[in-house]
Amino acid sequence: MTSSNRMSRRDFIKVTIGAIGGVMGVLLGVPVVGYLLQPAFRKQAAEAWIPIGKLEAFTIGIPSPFSFTRTKVNGWERTATSYGGFVLRRSEDPKEILILSSRCTHLSCRVNWNEAAQGYLCPCHDAKFSIEGEVLSGPPPEPLERYNEFKVDEDGNLLIFFEEA
Ligand code: FES
Repeated sequence: MTSSNRMSRRDFIKVTIGAIGGVMGVLLGVPVVGYLLQPAFRKQAAEAWIPIGKLEAFTIGIPSPFSFTRTKVNGWERTATSYGGFVLRRSEDPKEILILSSRCTHLSCRVNWNEAAQGYLCPCHDAKFSIEGEVLSGPPPEPLERYNEFKVDEDGNLLIFFEEA
């Protein structure tokens, strides 16, 4: 056996050990990199049925407030946004319901139902909306938004269909 043969055997062993190390590195590294990158590709559903309370808890004829929070996941960043509105049951009929957003259509302040004024009042620029959400006075360009899709489940919960704007 020549000296050059011994060297090439040594080189072969080095290359083989290097290759095995490389393969093991890839096998271990791919799942770790995937785990670290996973949140960047995860998305929350932009629409969902949101329970807003028991139907019987909403008094007939008087707007009753509700609220809920949605969390938006963008990569590693989580943003919680709260939404709210009012439920107006017009009768015992679960289809006779008006559900309005409490977001003022002017600059997005929250309106409040005022029993004495018989309207929704916006504290930011003194707007007034009717019980049906129509603009009565002030700068808002449009009526309050309506949640037109809603349902009552078998347990008596009122749910609204929410779509991320
Ligand atoms: S934000 Fe409501 S009137 Fe301006």
